[in-house]
Amino acid sequence: MKALILSGGTGTRLRPVTFTNAKQLLPLANKPILFHIIEKVAKTGINKIGIIVGDTSEEVMRTVGNGDRWNVDISYIHQPLPLGLAHAVKTARDFIEDEDFIMLLGDNAFNVSLDSLIRNFRTNNADSTIMLYQVEDPSHYGVAVVEKNHITKLVEKPKNFISDLIITGVYIFNKNIFKAIDNTSPSSRGELEITDAIQELLSTGGNVTFEILQGWWKDTGKLQDILDANRMILDEIDTYNQVLSKDNAVYMGKLLISKSACIKNSIIAGPAAIDEDAVILDSYVGPYSSIGKGVVINNCEVDNCIILENARLEGIDKRISGSLIGKNVSIRSAGKRPYSNSFLLGDCSELYL
Ligand code: G1P
Repeated sequence: MKALILSGGTGTRLRPVTFTNAKQLLPLANKPILFHIIEKVAKTGINKIGIIVGDTSEEVMRTVGNGDRWNVDISYIHQPLPLGLAHAVKTARDFIEDEDFIMLLGDNAFNVSLDSLIRNFRTNNADSTIMLYQVEDPSHYGVAVVEKNHITKLVEKPKNFISDLIITGVYIFNKNIFKAIDNTSPSSRGELEITDAIQELLSTGGNVTFEILQGWWKDTGKLQDILDANRMILDEIDTYNQVLSKDNAVYMGKLLISKSACIKNSIIAGPAAIDEDAVILDSYVGPYSSIGKGVVINNCEVDNCIILENARLEGIDKRISGSLIGKNVSIRSAGKRPYSNSFLLGDCSELYL
């Protein structure tokens, strides 16, 4: 079995951060979302991974590399335009050859292993096996209707409620999916939908099985969702403070702190992750914070945040919370009169003061 990971897509809902960062490379607990996915694939023993790339191909290829670090072989497949998930599969035809393959969306995060889904596909001799997840509001997703333990219908973003079981973006296929895609037409949003292709497979007598994910799953496309996913990954840290309490720093809870981080006169309350060369002085870093490489936090309070490389936060009175802060962003107290707010903000920035 091979694996196909989709890492095109532009991440419009996370602008401005995604103007300069591929959304699949945004970090959860200081590790790119895509790395969390590759790790899951590597754990199953699959060692041939194809990554579909689009506009952000250079950044993805540079950051992920050839797969050596996970002991897998990674190839890149360029999808010239984002014309849908099924179009991405078509683009990968030469890479897949006639093998079975597991497909994953590079911006989804979840906490279950892929082994049971693969077992389900194999023992049922399925044409496709998909991972479903129960949610309160399924209207933004592909949805599956399940009756008597069988999928009877699949609809992409149904207008009226038909089921609360959504398609999570974890799919296994055999080569029959290619024929089904050939018989699928673009949807109203102009994309070749994989949901429609699986429906076509089902309508033509294909065996489509499923598993309901028992754990958590998140599409990280929006601010609240990426913060949620970051919280859930941080909750799974199983290490407590590895650095000695020194320099008047107090450490509490589960923490992933790089040895090269410099922390003085501060309180660090986990779960939290602090990456290499971060500097935290006279500050409070509270639960669910992921502090990236080289970030400086001086005389501030933060919690429930993802702060990317080399950002600087200095002398801010109010606690900074529920935020995604991009690389090299600088937020500082003006420190002198007039005490006005002064900004240099990129397009699509969002501020809540
Ligand atoms: C895509 C799929 C949808 C699936 C979702 C999971 O939606 O089309 O079926 O439920 O991913 O994240 P999109 O992100 O393209 O709206």
